[in-house]
Amino acid sequence: MTLSKKIIGKDPALKALLRSVKTVAATDATVLITGETGTGKELIAAAILKNSRRSDKEFIALNCAALPESIIESELFGYCKGAFTGATAAKKGLLASVAGGTLFFDEINSLSLGVQVKLLRFIQTGEYLPVGSVKTQKADVRIIAATNTDLEKQVSAGQFRQDLYFRLSVVPLLLSPLRERPQDIQLLMTHFFGYFAQKYTLRTPVISDHVLEVLQAYPWPGNIRELRNLCENLAVQRLRRIIEVNDLPLGYLQFKRETSAAGYFELPKGGMDWPKLETDLIQQAMVRTNGKCQQASFLLGMSRSALYYRTKNKV
Ligand SMILES: Nc1ncnc2c1ncn2[C@@H]1O[C@H](COP(=O)(O)OP(=O)(O)O)[C@@H](O)[C@H]1O
Ligand SMILES: [Mg+2]
Repeated sequence: MTLSKKIIGKDPALKALLRSVKTVAATDATVLITGETGTGKELIAAAILKNSRRSDKEFIALNCAALPESIIESELFGYCKGAFTGATAAKKGLLASVAGGTLFFDEINSLSLGVQVKLLRFIQTGEYLPVGSVKTQKADVRIIAATNTDLEKQVSAGQFRQDLYFRLSVVPLLLSPLRERPQDIQLLMTHFFGYFAQKYTLRTPVISDHVLEVLQAYPWPGNIRELRNLCENLAVQRLRRIIEVNDLPLGYLQFKRETSAAGYFELPKGGMDWPKLETDLIQQAMVRTNGKCQQASFLLGMSRSALYYRTKNKV
């Protein structure tokens, strides 16, 4: 396994997921991987493949969001001569070319309802019809699918077939967003810094404790992909060996805590309502961080347990 294919993390949910990956890889079950963009869905798909009996067989990834419905259908099932204007010769589809191997449906949430029916039929029977053909074909293909949306919600909204959802989610694997596993940030950074230092023959950078605090409070919309890019960016800039908060790109700095000099808050002349101020600030921090205690406690400059103690009777 190359360094970049290594799955890093101590988060208990990730550890449990990796145990499921081992179990499921040994079977031919259909797997549905759910997670926001950049949480490692493709990496998990690769790990399943590597541990499966199909590891030395074909693996093809199809991005369902990148192609229009008609193209996906002919790419997937193939077509026969004269099936549509321009089909001057028959063409084999992905199911036929990957036979014996694994097909990875990335962003399956974007698959049109029309193609969903045909895919369901294939998963149930192992059979499909090339476009324009009346002759059923068979293929032995393992399906792994990934979605960056909550498919169950799409089912409720009528955008995704419930029967296909049930067939796909025989083994559901859920990757949590990076902001929910901030304790993995340091490990991942050490891994990526090591990787890029080796790749570009550079010194391995180190981050200050304050940088770690800022990054642990950051919401990471691009998840681990964003963290990896940040590490590459910091490594190649050949900054000082110890990276400080001001070395971070601007977008991260809004999560920097104001370090308060003495006299930073002026007591109003007529006095104040201290408990109300505390409740107010805690509420603002909770709203700003969507109720994430770890991030809220960072914004307030206190430990999680101190925040917990203060919120018990308040928020
Ligand atoms: N747990 C992890 N450990 C190490 N690298 C990871 C981890 N999760 C994701 N990555 C890396 O982050 C990047 C994005 O992962 P990817 O699998 O493409 O995400 P997704 O398919 O969910 O968008 C890749 O470079 C991948 O190698
Ligand atoms: Mg992906």
